[in-house]
Amino acid sequence: MSSVMVHAQGAPSGVQEGAWLDVAALRADFPILDQRVNGWPLVYLDNAATTQKPESVLAALAGFYRADNANVHRGAHTLSQRATDAYEGARERVARFLNARSAEEVVFTRGTTEAINLVAQTWGLSRLQTGDVILLTEMEHHSNLVPWQLVAERTGARLVYLPVTGDDGALDEVHLGWLEDPRVRLFAFTHVSNTLGVINPAADWCARARRRGIVTVVDAAQSAGHLPVDVQSIGCDFLAFSGHKLCGPTGIGALYGRGELLEALPPWQGGGDMISHVEFESSEWNVIPQKFEAGTPHIAGAVGLHAALDYVDRIGRDRIARHDRALAEHACEALGRLAGIRLLGPATGRSGVVSFLFPDLHAHDLVTFLDQRGVALRGGHHCNQPLMRKLGVTSTARASFYFYNTPAEIQRLVDGVREARRFFAG
Ligand code: ALA
Repeated sequence: MSSVMVHAQGAPSGVQEGAWLDVAALRADFPILDQRVNGWPLVYLDNAATTQKPESVLAALAGFYRADNANVHRGAHTLSQRATDAYEGARERVARFLNARSAEEVVFTRGTTEAINLVAQTWGLSRLQTGDVILLTEMEHHSNLVPWQLVAERTGARLVYLPVTGDDGALDEVHLGWLEDPRVRLFAFTHVSNTLGVINPAADWCARARRRGIVTVVDAAQSAGHLPVDVQSIGCDFLAFSGHKLCGPTGIGALYGRGELLEALPPWQGGGDMISHVEFESSEWNVIPQKFEAGTPHIAGAVGLHAALDYVDRIGRDRIARHDRALAEHACEALGRLAGIRLLGPATGRSGVVSFLFPDLHAHDLVTFLDQRGVALRGGHHCNQPLMRKLGVTSTARASFYFYNTPAEIQRLVDGVREARRFFAG
């Protein structure tokens, strides 16, 4: 097997040309993975909540604060100019990552939640009225559900949910007929479900919505770092993602918005940077995207995000998708052999998320037991309370994978779950 290593600045040392993934070498870029937790080598399987950060991201963050720290867009001095270049360079990088037409279509936010709230509070409040319908799916996490409830309350618009039909997470296709209904003004949906691992056909849904002039919002929190995500191919109006779920820092993410839409929207928060001219009585707004970025932004976060996108793209999102899927299918197969287990999500074609439960074992007990053996999972409702109720459960245990996870770690998961079953059976 050829092993041409990529050695560009910040490149993952484990990327091999022509090979799938050299996970052992990639893991060497993640110092946090090399530790013992409760006496066991750490197995980190909580990547849907947040991913770990490679050395190149840590170095970019420290490097910014050590050498370039200053405020952006404000000073004529050299450090301020460097910080501005780094910040705007990160915006260009996000635009390339998403294949946006221009960096003007990228608004930095704290993450997915803030990005969706921005759309809800600007587009939603200014465009919706009584009788309008906001279309969602039953698999939305709270970040793509509660913002729309707030807007519905204030505008009189109605929320309609495309139903999930069962444990496999299939949506009732008949209800996609809502995309022909003239009352529907906005369709907001998750690209990848954080609980079920379902990958939704975003391009197809956006094409159907566009034919009827329905504005689309894609929640890419679980997809942007795991699948190739191209806003022009998807054809969405808005798309939101978080940096920390793709090897970047917490507190930074982005909203993609189609240029003409962003231009036409009112601003959201008021303050410095989002204005071009201020009088005591009134103000004029800055151009996009600055119109939506009030106050000092998370400059170091944007720099770290830039390094993270470089890292992820040097591995290749298509290869990450294959790796995630292979691990998830392997985990489903191995867990599926355990008596009494209930697995959620589709049998094939899932992302790297596997939720499961046992009728007689609480997910929190299971997750705590696994933690005692160094295996980090998430247990609970995963910010998906309505979906949980729909499926008739209160919580699940969830394993979620990334490119640094291995089949050996899945074996540790399965062994741990088996031991937990024996332990709690008494
Ligand atoms: N939505 C994130 C998760 O699934 C927080 O864990």
